[in-house]
Amino acid sequence: MTILGAGVVGCGLIGSRRAAEAARHPASRCVAVADTDIGRAERVAAEAGARVARDWHELIASPDIDVVCVATPNGRLAQIAIAALNAGKHVLLEKPMGRNLDEARAIRAAARAAGRRVKVGFNHRYHPAIARAHGELANGTIGTPINARARYGHGARPGYEREWRGNAELAGGGELTDQGVHVVDLLHWFLGPPRDVYAVTQRAVWPLGELEDNAFAVLRYAGGAVASFHTSWTQWRNLFSFEIFGTAGSLVVEGLGGSYGEESLTIALRAPEGGAPLTERLAFAGPDTSWRDEWDDFITGIGAGRAFLGDADDGVVAMATLAALYASARSGLPEPYGSRRSGDP
Ligand SMILES: NC(=O)c1ccc[n+]([C@@H]2O[C@H](COP(=O)([O-])OP(=O)(O)OC[C@H]3O[C@@H](n4cnc5c(N)ncnc54)[C@H](O)[C@@H]3O)[C@@H](O)[C@H]2O)c1
Repeated sequence: MTILGAGVVGCGLIGSRRAAEAARHPASRCVAVADTDIGRAERVAAEAGARVARDWHELIASPDIDVVCVATPNGRLAQIAIAALNAGKHVLLEKPMGRNLDEARAIRAAARAAGRRVKVGFNHRYHPAIARAHGELANGTIGTPINARARYGHGARPGYEREWRGNAELAGGGELTDQGVHVVDLLHWFLGPPRDVYAVTQRAVWPLGELEDNAFAVLRYAGGAVASFHTSWTQWRNLFSFEIFGTAGSLVVEGLGGSYGEESLTIALRAPEGGAPLTERLAFAGPDTSWRDEWDDFITGIGAGRAFLGDADDGVVAMATLAALYASARSGLPEPYGSRRSGDP
């Protein structure tokens, strides 16, 4: 078995998880980590059995590194991912795929030019209730999808405006970009790219300048399906809810574990004669396995030359959808997906 050497740039909340998975997986080892905060890099390196690189430039130039995980604030993702691809590495970069559609397209172009693989960290696809719901939809359990409804949020915190998520230059967008991109990616995974979108953004509570703390969206699909979502940094009690309705039943995912509550999937099958549906609730207790499963998909996908979930094209679709949503929020009008104004994916 080939063991891939992994380097992790950014040793914060997510980078430390990636380093742990790289160290644990039988087909990878964590070789080096880098962070502008040396104390963080040293802690993560010690836990993962890795060395501390002087900076990300040194890390991506290391010949014993085959794959680079980029887990910095959004404003650095594209620059570091493109440099790593140009250095011949495969890249797992955290969501969103850069700050905007232009950065996402530049990352995809760099991967194509270098003949290297890119995966975008859409870890929600690996949450067991969501993955199972996707399988049920694909198997036809609920018939033809007709609409979807999602809610995702947390309550942010005082001082958010001094963190990178509250800085437009480093974040690229507010809550629509931060957690909304997961919802946008899941809707794409379940329903395909939208035909047109409509969005309203709000700056309701937090002093975040031009960045929104709430976003509301309606998306329409070529086949007639419709989706809506609300994503919020004023969701005082954390919430994740993803519902999809078909001609024959519905799939409802609630919770993501931890502060979002127990993860569950409720499958309801419409009674043909009317009345109460046949309902089954599947609970997925226990630790969050999405990081483990996403890393496994990345590493084994590279080894086997197999497509993995959440590739560069999926990242570009998500960023094109965000671009259309922001264009709609600015104009107050529906925006076609992939229009010249909001950006052709
Ligand atoms: N998939 C998910 O659910 C999920 C959840 C949270 C965050 N994320 C994404 O992960 C990324 C990181 O988020 P986080 O919550 O871990 O942030 P964080 O602030 O906890 O960590 C970011 C780290 O990057 C370091 N850093 C900044 N600039 C650097 C540079 N030039 N070189 C090296 N290190 C640098 C910081 O010092 C910090 O340690 C973001 O893109 C975010 O959108 C994904």
